[in-house]
Amino acid sequence: MIDLTVLLNRESGEALYSQLYQYIKQEILGGKLAAETRLPSIRSLAAHLHISRNTVDLAYQQLLAEGYVQSRPRSGLYVIDLELESLPLSHQMNKKGLKNKAQASSAIRYDFRYGDVDAAHFPFAAWRKLANLSLHQDQLDLCSYGDPLGEPGLREEIAKYLHGSRGVNCTPEQMMIGAGVQYLLGVLSRLLSGANNGSEMAMEEPGYDGVRTIFAHHGFHIHPIPLETDGLNIQKLYESKSRIVYMTPSHQFPYGMVMPLPKRMQLLKWAADQIGIIIEDDYDSEFRYVGKPIPSLQSLDTHDRTVYLGTFSKCLLPSLRIAYMVLPQKLIELHAEQDYRLYDQTVSRFHQKTLELFMKNGHWEAHIRRMRNVYREKQFTLISMLQQLMGAQVTIIGQDAGLHILLRVHNGMDEQQLIATAEEESVRVYPVSLFWAQRADAEKSMVQIGFGGLSKEDITEGVRALYRAWFEKRRDE
Ligand SMILES: Cc1ncc(COP(=O)(O)O)c(C=O)c1O
Repeated sequence: MIDLTVLLNRESGEALYSQLYQYIKQEILGGKLAAETRLPSIRSLAAHLHISRNTVDLAYQQLLAEGYVQSRPRSGLYVIDLELESLPLSHQMNKKGLKNKAQASSAIRYDFRYGDVDAAHFPFAAWRKLANLSLHQDQLDLCSYGDPLGEPGLREEIAKYLHGSRGVNCTPEQMMIGAGVQYLLGVLSRLLSGANNGSEMAMEEPGYDGVRTIFAHHGFHIHPIPLETDGLNIQKLYESKSRIVYMTPSHQFPYGMVMPLPKRMQLLKWAADQIGIIIEDDYDSEFRYVGKPIPSLQSLDTHDRTVYLGTFSKCLLPSLRIAYMVLPQKLIELHAEQDYRLYDQTVSRFHQKTLELFMKNGHWEAHIRRMRNVYREKQFTLISMLQQLMGAQVTIIGQDAGLHILLRVHNGMDEQQLIATAEEESVRVYPVSLFWAQRADAEKSMVQIGFGGLSKEDITEGVRALYRAWFEKRRDE
């Protein structure tokens, strides 16, 4: 049962019961009171609104008489499911609008959206068990705000994992948990404003638009730095005069190249020379399919000039909203000095505790191993199907790691046409032009294909549909 909070005007001249009736009717028509909602009892609503029971009863009788609610014996009044035809025209249009939208998205059978993950392999049972433990009454301590930087136990687990898997050298005190990389970069942006590194931010071009926007909103002037086959062009970075660079060295987003060791060392030299800051976003380092892993920049940095970021959005679920940031000593001191500890932690302590137990009990390592195989197989299916059907008519880019590839299509279509013709075959692929700060430089005939959320069967069928859209149909025309 719900509560109804309505402002009744005793001065208006309109009877109170009528005002209440009008209010509830509008709530039903506007969809705010959904079908099957039980109205409050006469007694409780009268008490809640400080009006007589008679007034509520009259309003309810009117709603009953007009068919907005129905009475169920010994239970109460329920909002009925209004048939579309019986609604006023504006409401019909709203509902039809919704229907059309639903129809449109259900018309897409194969959605190659980057960012979707394989939720079917999420270890629900283990997670549920550990979540239950976190919610146990003897964990009453978890019911308060907690450490602004995040649960110390979780930070310790992440620090251990990062040291083992990425060579990251940090103490839990240098680490901050937050609800996503974007949120953490917002905090970092404000911190950097007080760190005398200027307001010029160098970024890979193309690069992740989701963070470019964050930096721009925080007043940074963005310098797009072109890429070479092995990553960021360091000469251009020097020329930009920027003293901060955001980058994705272990799996460049979106092109997917991995920066080799010698170039990493040159980049660290740049940071030491310029007293600069490198922001290393290691967003999907768990999924490397080819070659041996190269240590993170942070692990190679002897001058403490690297901020290291990672997320659980790829390997667990994006809906968990848990990411972490490792700060150099100087920035962690600034964080304390400038009262950033007054910012409360954004991730639920229960989720943090569950994740801590998940890592402590060995589920995390096992899950990564499992997911690496799951995604490797999906990627193999995608690449083999593309090669088999489209061969030299496409170029596959960025297949060494991660949950997406880029596809350059040699059929004369531009990005918009590639997307539109794919949709005609019920497949969705995604634009890449938005990853360029300078759109005019964007590749013209390329799309992004994420494969994390699709089954192997759907990937196979999806690629067949793309082949029809881009090649077969054109031959028929
Ligand atoms: C380069 C890069 N960094 C970070 C993220 C997002 O991380 P989070 O979900 O923790 O905000 C993404 C997500 O797609 C990404 O592509």
